[in-house]
Amino acid sequence: MSRGTVIDLCYLIAAITFILALKGLSSPKHARRGTLVGAAGMALAIGATFFRPGLSHIWLIVIAMVIGVVIAVPVARLVKMTAMPQLVAIFNGVGGGAAALVSITEFIGTDTKQVATYKVLEVLLGVLIGSVSFAGSAIAFIKLQELITGRPITYPGQQVINGIVGVIIVALVFAILVTSSTALLWVLLGFSLVLGVIFVLPIGGADVPVLISLLNSFTGVAVAASGFTLNNNLLIVAGTLVGASGMLLTRMMSSAMGRSLPNILFSAFGSVVTASGATEDATGRSVRSGTADDIGVLLAYSRKVVIIPGYGLAVAQAQHVAKELADTLTAKGVEVFYAIHPVAGRMPGHMNVLLAEANVPYEQLKEMDEANPELATADVALVVGANDTVNPAARNSPGSPIYGMPIINADQATNVVFLKRSMRPGFAGIDNELLYDPKTTLLFGDAKDTLTKLVAAVNAA
Ligand code: TAP
Repeated sequence: MSRGTVIDLCYLIAAITFILALKGLSSPKHARRGTLVGAAGMALAIGATFFRPGLSHIWLIVIAMVIGVVIAVPVARLVKMTAMPQLVAIFNGVGGGAAALVSITEFIGTDTKQVATYKVLEVLLGVLIGSVSFAGSAIAFIKLQELITGRPITYPGQQVINGIVGVIIVALVFAILVTSSTALLWVLLGFSLVLGVIFVLPIGGADVPVLISLLNSFTGVAVAASGFTLNNNLLIVAGTLVGASGMLLTRMMSSAMGRSLPNILFSAFGSVVTASGATEDATGRSVRSGTADDIGVLLAYSRKVVIIPGYGLAVAQAQHVAKELADTLTAKGVEVFYAIHPVAGRMPGHMNVLLAEANVPYEQLKEMDEANPELATADVALVVGANDTVNPAARNSPGSPIYGMPIINADQATNVVFLKRSMRPGFAGIDNELLYDPKTTLLFGDAKDTLTKLVAAVNAA
């Protein structure tokens, strides 16, 4: 078997592991194994690449890899779960940037007049999409890290300016195809970076995770374009998998939020904040707050308790004590499970990952569709740091920004208990009627503290 065939075989095995990895990632039970299988495939692919005939600058490649590993490993190990979207943004951005750089070096190192037009177009697409992904991800990172406001940034004539930049980019692509000018390639790079920035600015903090998933898909397409440029089948397969899965995830997130993708990208959503920190709203409605002891008794004497976790549970790092409460209740004969909304938290699978970290048994995690029919028979819906994902306005108020978003039916339980710190709204910035419902009790405070008090109260009941 020739060396080339062995390398191609390694690439084929790697491609298969990537598909198996994606399959593994579709359930929390197999996600860890899926990640390891994908990583092993990537290691095989990288190792095989070193044996490609004609590979030069090996030491530069090794140094670049060492720098990457030295930065990425500690960052990935130390990142907090609440900062995961930022990490994904930055890792995705460098992927897009790398794809753009590959395309640029190919363009500069090739006599583009001698190659087919579609080949040059591939290179230009790699530069364009990779740069948009790089610059867009960098701005998404800066927004999520709150280095600038997370709210949509809008200015007069924004869509027109975006349109003009788009038209200039199309004109530049044509001009480069005709002239093969390297100078114009740099101009295209500059405008692509600008497009990445201005595309992301009007997208609000609430929608940035969806945007990151979309940019991730763009990076996949840019990598696939690099694969065509370099005649590398593995890059084509890997890029296409990332592109397709990123697009599917974007669609799933949009529909779980009950909104169309254009609405997320172009409506500057997330700029409204209506509720204040007060326990009485403008119309004089008040809420009922309870004590940990009272709620502890309610929980201990229930038959079925459904815990509905949200972003606040992640902020408070309350997953371990949530499990402790569930275990304490289970030991008292109470049936307990967690109802997981697909966009609870700030990124896909946020709640599953957190609860898995606390060793919550998978059987206790129920996805929204499975959990909802059970809420009508639950004695208590215990909402821990969630808000929008249980807001009945999504079902009942056609004018609401979240109207149409599927929700967990917390309002159908006999009693509802909210653990939150104040009356401030959730991510969508809108009031939640359920807080004012007579069957709702609020326990104010950081979720970790209130859950700890509830464990003690249940034990004492
Ligand atoms: P949110 O609606 O954002 O509500 C979180 C609640 O947690 C807030 O009401 C907040 O109230 C409370 N909270 C914050 N810190 C807390 C702490 N330390 N202890 C106790 N409570 C705390 O969360 P959700 O229900 O999970 O909904 C997620 C939102 O994010 C949705 O609007 C969704 O569309 C959006 N989103 C999600 C994703 C993905 S993929 N997950 C992507 C994009 C957008 P206080 O401030 O009063 O404590």
